[in-house]
Amino acid sequence: MIGGTGITKTFRQRGGVLGAREVPALRGVDFAIPKGGAVSFIGESGCGKTTLGRIIAGLETCDAGEIVIDGVAMSSLSHRRRQPYFRRVQLVHQDPYSALNPTRTIHQALAAPLALRARQTGRPRAWADERAGELLGMVGLDPGYVLPRYPHQLSGGMRQRVVIARALTVDPEVLVADEAVSMIDVSLRLGILALLKDLRERLGVSVLFITHDVATARYIGTDGELYVIYRGQVVERGPVETVISAPVHPYTQALLSAIPVLHGLESPGEQRVVPVEASGDHPSDDTSGHPGGHPSDHAGGCLFAPRCPFRTERCERERPVLGHDGDTPQRHACFHPERRSVVAVPVSRR
Ligand SMILES: Nc1ncnc2c1ncn2[C@@H]1O[C@H](COP(=O)(O)OP(=O)(O)OP(=O)(O)O)[C@@H](O)[C@H]1O
Ligand SMILES: [Mg+2]
Repeated sequence: MIGGTGITKTFRQRGGVLGAREVPALRGVDFAIPKGGAVSFIGESGCGKTTLGRIIAGLETCDAGEIVIDGVAMSSLSHRRRQPYFRRVQLVHQDPYSALNPTRTIHQALAAPLALRARQTGRPRAWADERAGELLGMVGLDPGYVLPRYPHQLSGGMRQRVVIARALTVDPEVLVADEAVSMIDVSLRLGILALLKDLRERLGVSVLFITHDVATARYIGTDGELYVIYRGQVVERGPVETVISAPVHPYTQALLSAIPVLHGLESPGEQRVVPVEASGDHPSDDTSGHPGGHPSDHAGGCLFAPRCPFRTERCERERPVLGHDGDTPQRHACFHPERRSVVAVPVSRR
């Protein structure tokens, strides 16, 4: 079990006409990835999904908050002693081209981590070669064909499978798939999604799926949990099917209304999230137009208020925290959930 509480991260960006500015990427995020479970983070570009994925994989540190892996708080360990824990979380990069070294064969790419593992566990060297073949078989590739080849000799889908096989060399507990199919040809996406799903079922590996696309999140784990992130805050969280069929937060409703097809993968990964129409405001203003951050940050109001058709005075004054409503299985951060089902949220079709 891997979890986190209060994960907070602010980037300090330097340069540009506006000078240095602070970009709050994550604002006190709590999460839990159960063993063998599926968790999806969804939200528009820049909301902090990748930053959170990288912190969970130990590739980035947080400013505040705590990551706990198998009951051990990572902040209690030295950098060196943390590494074996974070090794259990493997990131599958969205771009399989840049994730593999073009000058090394697939055999070389897999042999290095496996040889290390053989040494660590006192296995003979031959084990590494055998295991490389086994792992490629596991991800649906023919080892005889793939092992001697260079990345450029393989298709995008094959390369992504190799990247997943390489992640499996360390027997991970969690695979963090960050937009793992977005750069792959549409015809090959379903295969990769099916593979991640299959690895969950066969190996019991958890999948943390980071995406813009609700349909793919649903495909990976209908039994899983969906986290809807808006400007670094989780605004809604709950069982995938519940959140999709009965979204409570207006932002979630906007995300869902922007995606016309929600029944499985009829349009695999093609539909991108279309943000809610801003009434004189847009998240692209959040970090670029205000050197010290967005005005709503200072006001302490709801982060979504500037774009929300349901906002009240309270929303502009006070920031709602994620909580249960009593009658909904999901948690949401909204003061006015009772208005949800009545009015559709306007969506810009850009
Ligand atoms: N290394 C960095 N230095 C400065 N700012 C950063 C850095 N990484 C991310 N950010 C900023 O933090 C915010 C969150 O970025 P992040 O990449 O996590 O978003 P995302 O949800 O993954 O977006 P996308 O869907 O486009 O991949 C953005 O405003 C981004 O510009
Ligand atoms: Mg990202």
